[in-house]
Amino acid sequence: MKKILVNEALVERENIKIDIEDRGYQFGDGVYEVIRVYNGRLFTKDEHLNRLYESAEKISLTIPYPQETIAARIEELVAANQLQTGIVYLQITRGAAPRQHAFPSEETAPTFVAYTNEMARNEAAMTKGAKGLLVEDVRWLRCDIKSLNLLGNILAKQKASEAGCIEAILHRGDTVMEGSSSNMFIVKAGQLLTHPATNLILNGITRQVVLKLCQENNIAYTETPFSVQELLNAEEVFLTSTTSEVIPLIQIDGKQIGDGRVGPITKKMQQLFTKRIKAECGLTHV
Ligand SMILES: Cc1ncc(COP(=O)(O)O)c(C=O)c1O
Repeated sequence: MKKILVNEALVERENIKIDIEDRGYQFGDGVYEVIRVYNGRLFTKDEHLNRLYESAEKISLTIPYPQETIAARIEELVAANQLQTGIVYLQITRGAAPRQHAFPSEETAPTFVAYTNEMARNEAAMTKGAKGLLVEDVRWLRCDIKSLNLLGNILAKQKASEAGCIEAILHRGDTVMEGSSSNMFIVKAGQLLTHPATNLILNGITRQVVLKLCQENNIAYTETPFSVQELLNAEEVFLTSTTSEVIPLIQIDGKQIGDGRVGPITKKMQQLFTKRIKAECGLTHV
């Protein structure tokens, strides 16, 4: 039986009870993280935990444990569940209290849970590329917070899914923001472009790793907004996320991107990313 971390204890799933008045359940009043596990080791764990604490702070939610405690507990969770390749999902809500929009009383304890799931790398999409669909971004103006409120993202992803596409590419008017669960990169005149980390996108950890890899390997990039036209006319397009890593988009809204094949800069980023995983997670192969 797989274990789940609830507050500070590892427990079995069937023994867990979540209150129907938990604010996560009723309002989506909480924040979350998804961390990749390769070879039984957590990839970019500190970066994800830093962002969890930042997201919580942005919604005035105080996580009642030190970051080191959560780090140690999720390591124990991965070991207890003997997870090799997969993810750890973590979420914290403002706790259970009689339903009202305003924050509950100070004594209300937040509800923290974390669990693991097995998840293979999406080798097929990484190698062959995938399709994207443009969808108007109707989300709120604090997309920098990794909030449990994901309706805007879910409705967009569903449209993409129904159109046989891997991702919805969100745009506000003419400007491309990010994917419904990923960040977006294009190659224009040999240079990588991605939307700057403003309040209108989530500053993805994978995005940050990719930018760091660019710096370390002298690959030119600019954090600047780009238009829908620039996206469709790009030489290459790829998305990044914790679960997807670097996935090329070779068709968007039915239009072929570049020559319709995975481009050289995308391939280079995939190779560098895999090398980083190997280095951090002690793998001899990925
Ligand atoms: C809206 C959104 N943007 C970007 C990302 C990518 O972030 P990360 O690389 O940290 O997984 C995600 C991940 O779920 C997301 O939901």
